[in-house]
Amino acid sequence: EASRYFSTELLNWYLANKRDLPWRKNRDPYRVWVSEIMLQQTRVDTVIPYYERFMEKFPTAAALAEAPEPEVLKLWEGLGYYSRARNLQAGAREVLALYGGIVPDDKDKVAALRGVGPYTTGAIMSIAFNRPEPAVDGNVMRVLSRYFCLEEDIAKPATRVGIEKLAGSLIPEGSAGDFNQGLMELGALVCTPKSPGCLTCPVMMHCEGRMAGKEHILPIKSKA
Ligand code: ADE
Repeated sequence: EASRYFSTELLNWYLANKRDLPWRKNRDPYRVWVSEIMLQQTRVDTVIPYYERFMEKFPTAAALAEAPEPEVLKLWEGLGYYSRARNLQAGAREVLALYGGIVPDDKDKVAALRGVGPYTTGAIMSIAFNRPEPAVDGNVMRVLSRYFCLEEDIAKPATRVGIEKLAGSLIPEGSAGDFNQGLMELGALVCTPKSPGCLTCPVMMHCEGRMAGKEHILPIKSKA
């Protein structure tokens, strides 16, 4: 049915179309972590050179933990939201102190790290460890709201919780990291906020939002 179709087609589309991005070179959880923090408020094209410089200077959590804070902030200059950099370094210091510099393959321990919220936890657990955890950000809420024609307000926490449950249920066995990145990739490249590229969408055929003619008005998000 529509859910199975979505999972299979999205995963295949991602495997055939994924961009060659620097944080996709391997599944090192520290590398995934840094990329997800940088990508939270910044576009992919902007992040790439910052990410390359950052990983060159601080290739491991231990290297980041041991650096003087001003050096970390200097490499972050231009990305903005400097609390992200401070929290990332604080998290790296926790990883060094508590886990010997190795990001643990443990959802609760990852979720407890400084600066790591539910989205980043899901991204690290799925992309680095291939654990079947959802990673729901604004892109993913948009894609799923459209595909399933969900008309609840995505600004409401209960809506996010429901979409996280749905996203988790869609993960194909053994492919959590690729599937979650496929969702992000579809939201970034095809199911975009303004003119969604339905004609090139791998799951258009069963997209409820499009069938209802509502792809442009979804997701619904209240101002407050
Ligand atoms: N946006 C958030 N996470 C991403 C990722 N891993 N790849 C591309 N875009 C993203």
